[in-house]
Amino acid sequence: MKVKGEHILISDDEIGLRESLHDLLTMEGYNVTVTANGIEAINKLQAEQFDIALLDIKMPKIDGIEVLRYMQQNCPFTQPIMLTGIVDVKLAVEAIRLGAYDYITKPYSSDDLLKVISRALERKNLLMQNEVMKTELQRLSGTSEIIGDASSFKKVLRLAAKIAPTESSVMICGHSGTGKELIANFIYKNSLRAEQPFVALNCASIPDSLIESELFGHEKGAFTDAVRQKQGLVEIANGGTLFLDEVGDISLSIQPKLLRFIQEGEYRRVGGNTVLHSDVRIISATNKRLENEVTAGKFREDLLYRLNVITIDLPSLKERKEDIPKLAQWFIQKKMKTRVKKTLSSEAIDMLTRYDWPGNVRELENVIERAAILSHGDVIEAKDLALPSRVLSMGGSSDDGDSRVGKLVPMKDVEREHYLKVLNTLNWNKSQAAKVLGVSLKTLYTKIQQYQLKERTA
Ligand SMILES: Nc1ncnc2c1ncn2[C@@H]1O[C@H](COP(=O)(O)OP(=O)(O)OP(=O)(O)O)[C@@H](O)[C@H]1O
Ligand SMILES: [Mg+2]
Repeated sequence: MKVKGEHILISDDEIGLRESLHDLLTMEGYNVTVTANGIEAINKLQAEQFDIALLDIKMPKIDGIEVLRYMQQNCPFTQPIMLTGIVDVKLAVEAIRLGAYDYITKPYSSDDLLKVISRALERKNLLMQNEVMKTELQRLSGTSEIIGDASSFKKVLRLAAKIAPTESSVMICGHSGTGKELIANFIYKNSLRAEQPFVALNCASIPDSLIESELFGHEKGAFTDAVRQKQGLVEIANGGTLFLDEVGDISLSIQPKLLRFIQEGEYRRVGGNTVLHSDVRIISATNKRLENEVTAGKFREDLLYRLNVITIDLPSLKERKEDIPKLAQWFIQKKMKTRVKKTLSSEAIDMLTRYDWPGNVRELENVIERAAILSHGDVIEAKDLALPSRVLSMGGSSDDGDSRVGKLVPMKDVEREHYLKVLNTLNWNKSQAAKVLGVSLKTLYTKIQQYQLKERTA
C-alpha cells in the first residue's frame, strides 16, 4: 500500500457510497475522514486541516453547496470536489463557479475519481507553494552570493556547510548587518530540505499581539479582525525550513507555545482547539546576547537550548577588514547590473578599510550603493563615500573612539554625536539606524528629539 497521508474529507448521506469511498481511498494510502451530512462536514472542516473535500451535493439539512460556501470563506487551500447525480449537473456547474475544483457524476469509476483527486492535490500544493513564493520574494533581494576570504568568516562557512544537511536547529548570532539572513539562506539551500519551502518570520517587525496568529494561524472569529481562517507559517513551512529572524524579540507569552512546537511538532491555531502537527527545521537569528536575556528573565532558558543546538557566531566586519575591498567591488557590481562598472580609487579603498563599520556589511552595502550612484565618472573617490568626516580627515585609525574622550567630555555629548553619525551614515533611515544602534525605534525618536538632531541638507 502506498502511503500518501494526505487528508481527505468525505461527505455523503448514502452510507454505501461513503463506505466504499472510504475503503478505496484508505487502500490508496490517504488519511480519510467520513461524514454523513453537511453539518458534520463543516464541524470537521472547522476542527481539522484537509487537503481535499469530496462533497455530495444533495444532502439533508445543509447541502454540498452550503459546505462549499463555507469552505470558500474558511478553507482557502482545501480543494472541494463535488459528487453529483446526473440530474444535478446544473448545480455542479454552479459549484465550480463557487470555487469547487471539479465535479464527478455518479456512478463513476475509481480510476476517474483517483485522477481528479491527484490533480486537485497538485493544485493545492501549487497554491501553498505560491503562498511560500510570496514570502520568498519579499525576502530575497537580488542574488545571494557570499563573499568572504577572511579566516574567521571561512570558519563560519565551513561550519554552516557541515551542519546544513543535518536536521538540527541552528542559531545564528551576530551584530546587525553581519549577514545572518544570508547564512540562514545558505544553510537552507544546502540542506536536505532545499526543495521544500523556506519561510521567514521577522519576530521584531510584528506586534506581539499578531505574532502567534502569524506563526500558528487562526480560526475564523478568533479575534475581531479574523474574518477568515488563516494558515500559520508553521503550516506553510511543513516539510521545509522556518527562519525565525530576531528571535530574541518573541515575547514571553508566546515562548511556551514555540517551545512546545519545537519539542513535539504540535501547535494550535489561535481560537482553535485541535492539536495540529507540522514538521519544520528551525533556523533562528539574533543580534542580542540571548544568555543575557535569559538572566534578565526575558527569554526562557529551555527555549534557548532548543534553538541553539548549533550556534554560528558571525564576525563583525571590523574583525575581517581584509574582505572589505572585495565586498565593496561586489556591491558595485550588484548595484550596477547593466551600466558601466565603476571601480574604487585606492584612497577610497583605504578609507573603507579604516572605518569601523558599526552597521557591518549592510552599512558597507549602503555606502557603496550611494557612492556608486552619486559619483561622477568611472572611479569612486574617497569623497564620494560620505563616511563620517572624522574618518575622512584623520587619515588615522578610527577605532580609538572619539579623540575628545581624553578631554573628559560628558557622556551625553558622546552619545549625541554617535547617534548623529549613525543616522547620517545611513541616510537617516531610522529603522536601520535603530538596528545598528541596538535600540528600539521609539528610543531613537526620543533621542532625536532630546538632542534636537536634524538631517543635514547636502
Ligand atoms: N559575506 C557577504 N557577501 C555578500 N553579501 C553580504 C555578505 N554578508 C552580508 N551581505 C549582504 O549584506 C546585507 C545584510 O546582510 P543580512 O541581511 O544577511 O544581515 P543580517 O545580519 O541579517 O542583518 P540584520 O541584523 O540587519 O537583519 C544583505 O544585502 C546581504 O546580501
Ligand atoms: Mg537579518
